[in-house]
Amino acid sequence: MDATTVTVTGAGGQIGYALLFRIAAGAMLGPDHPVRLRLLEIPQGLKSAEGAALELQDCAFPLLTDVEITDDPRVAFDGANIAMLVGARPRGAGMERADLLAANAGIFGPQGAALNEVAAADIRVVVVGNPANTNALIAAAAAPDIPGERFAALTRLDHDRALAQLAAALEAPVASLRGVAIWGNHSATQFPDVAHASVEGRPVLDALAEKLGGADAAASWLDDVFVPRVAGRGAEIISVRGSSSAASAANAAISHVHDLVHGTANEWTSAAVLSHGEYGVPAGLYSSAPVTSDGTAFRVVEGLDLDARGRARLDVSVAELVAERDAVRALGVI
Ligand code: NAD
Ligand code: LMR
Repeated sequence: MDATTVTVTGAGGQIGYALLFRIAAGAMLGPDHPVRLRLLEIPQGLKSAEGAALELQDCAFPLLTDVEITDDPRVAFDGANIAMLVGARPRGAGMERADLLAANAGIFGPQGAALNEVAAADIRVVVVGNPANTNALIAAAAAPDIPGERFAALTRLDHDRALAQLAAALEAPVASLRGVAIWGNHSATQFPDVAHASVEGRPVLDALAEKLGGADAAASWLDDVFVPRVAGRGAEIISVRGSSSAASAANAAISHVHDLVHGTANEWTSAAVLSHGEYGVPAGLYSSAPVTSDGTAFRVVEGLDLDARGRARLDVSVAELVAERDAVRALGVI
């Protein structure tokens, strides 16, 4: 079997360190699937990436055919089948939202252009670096020859956080849960939705009502505890840990690509994918939704009912995505 070329940007950072060894061990593409790693860093990050590469060598992974480190996106993405765009400019002290978007446009625009020029014909891209949805939009806009459906932003971490919170509340195994969905932006406005979720085949809303003493108590728990806890988890990790989630983010990125390339069978997961207008989300935005994969691309699960509460929450998150898109447009980036 030919090796798959996986490019990881920001490979010298925290998520990179949690990601590379599991990819090389076969956790993402499969236990029989050889992989070639390309690590992209900025000059200041090259030493850290080189250190990770030395450790990768010391692991003697049977599946790892090659590791290359570069600060040139055209070298990093040359022939890439999968690109994991992790490196991003973090928000600095006193930095306005527009400054953050501009700084990241300066990263994801050139990376999208390089992908367009040199990536393999089957390239698939997951954007992890924040603001992830809009960074995906910027990268895709700079890659006009790559179908927009090949880009996605990571909301699998939010999806997994929602599963874990539900499992704890219901005292049920994570594996017994199906049908959780994350809608909108990977930000505090996201909507973690359990309206279509089941636990051991039974509606989660019924199970919550039984556990918490009625439908009203279940609705209050969802609004006052569950949604803010999932949507605020990234900030909670930063405040407790002193830096943003790394191992859980890497795990989610691996699960995202795993499910994309292996397919999701009858289940769905969540990813921020190109909107074609599904659920009233303006076409062209990268917005999270429940998705399935047939092994080639994620597709939005259509035909779900969004109640008034869900609709209102999705509208708020989409308005934020529209504002981010408009800010980037005003910069002349897309
Ligand atoms: P980090 O600061 O530890 O590492 C980032 C790395 O990216 C650094 O080594 C830096 O040198 C590198 N980098 C910066 N600009 C680059 C460029 N132009 N090209 C290549 N590399 C570049 O950060 P981290 O903890 O690894 O997080 C990375 C990003 O992921 C952040 O934006 C973070 O907010 C985001 N994140 C997203 C999710 C999610 O679920 N979508 C979860 C956690 C973190
Ligand atoms: C997360 O969800 O953990 C991160 O996106 C938080 C952040 O701002 O880096």
